[in-house]
Amino acid sequence: MDLIFRRANLPDGRSGVDVGIEGDRIVAVESRLQATALEEIDAEGRLLSPPFVDAHFHMDATLSLGLPRMNRSGTLLEGIALWGELKPRLTHESVAARAMAYCDMAVAQGLLAIRSHVDVCDDRLIAVESLLEVKKRVAPYLDLQLVAFPQDGIYRSPTAERNLLRALDKGMEVVGGIPHFERTMADGAASVRRLCEIAAERGLMVDMHCDESDDPLSRHIETLAAETRRLGLSGRVAGSHLTSMHSMDNYYVSKLLPLIAEAGVAAIANPLINITLQGRHDTYPKRRGLTRVPELMECGVTVAFGHDCMMDPWYALGSGDMLDVAHMAVHVGHLTALHDIGACYDAVTVNAAKILHLDRYGIAPGCRADLVLLQAVDPFEAIRLKASRLLVLRKGKIVARTPEKLTSLFLPGRPDKVALNFVPGTVA
Ligand code: FE2
Repeated sequence: MDLIFRRANLPDGRSGVDVGIEGDRIVAVESRLQATALEEIDAEGRLLSPPFVDAHFHMDATLSLGLPRMNRSGTLLEGIALWGELKPRLTHESVAARAMAYCDMAVAQGLLAIRSHVDVCDDRLIAVESLLEVKKRVAPYLDLQLVAFPQDGIYRSPTAERNLLRALDKGMEVVGGIPHFERTMADGAASVRRLCEIAAERGLMVDMHCDESDDPLSRHIETLAAETRRLGLSGRVAGSHLTSMHSMDNYYVSKLLPLIAEAGVAAIANPLINITLQGRHDTYPKRRGLTRVPELMECGVTVAFGHDCMMDPWYALGSGDMLDVAHMAVHVGHLTALHDIGACYDAVTVNAAKILHLDRYGIAPGCRADLVLLQAVDPFEAIRLKASRLLVLRKGKIVARTPEKLTSLFLPGRPDKVALNFVPGTVA
């Protein structure tokens, strides 16, 4: 074999496992693997994980913070207006340079697959052309999946539908939408129907910004689930954000959740962004805005998390770290039980991979040798510490390394060291 990881812990709870790699494939996953390799790495009980997957991002806007000005109100609507001011100034080169910088940052943190929405409401299709080129350039080390996203509304913007079709013709793989931003509820529902029909005609997936609002009467997810059933799109549709569900009437939600599950529609929450953009019109108490993650999971809906934004008109912070995203979800969603924290790890790995339809993702013979070795013993510790990504492998090759944090001497991931070196209360 080319490489063997010895004594690794896996996210599903298996421990002391050896993982053998030949070329770009995992060929063996077993304890005490009887084989030799050109290189062996002793994981010493650290977590070996499939890579992080971001189910929802905006690569065309990332790293544009302050251009042409900052978002003063912090609202979604000012963010959209600000992006509208920036859009005419975009150049092919500037979009590509910012996206490439973000991809480097992502890979260093073990984030090897990203679904990015790309605004098609610019007749020049600058961002579309630019990100299609970036997708090719980063393909050796990162899977970039592109969503044709009509940011200004497919009916609200006069050329949006034509541009969306042009973007799909050029190779974008997923149909996006934003029904809550159309001018009326009726237009919003009509946009969901039209966009799902486009996806069905072309055999594409759907991922809509859906009900990103504090308005409990924003119910476009209901139409999205119904259209998914009508057009036979089960397993190919995701509703992103779904923040209105946070504020909906409980009785209505008790009807809605099974509808989403039966339709096979996935849910993508964006904890960093939802906690900062939602509730901005409230006094006190202020709503949190995150959709009903535990209830969706309990109902059998596939739930993933997205980073959504980083240093752009909507969100000034962020670092491209999906553990930061999961960490926020744990807090905002009251997901602090052990199994809930494990579910949050799944939401930035396997669940997101399932939604993106990633090929041969996971740790099993035949899977792609895309792996991350973390300075943590399990997903719980990885999220708690936002643990260092010691090694990142893409197709069997090491593409990034991060030195171990010295503070690991005090971590419960090394119980012997904790017992020897750290006595609670001795540090002022
Ligand atoms: Fe978004």
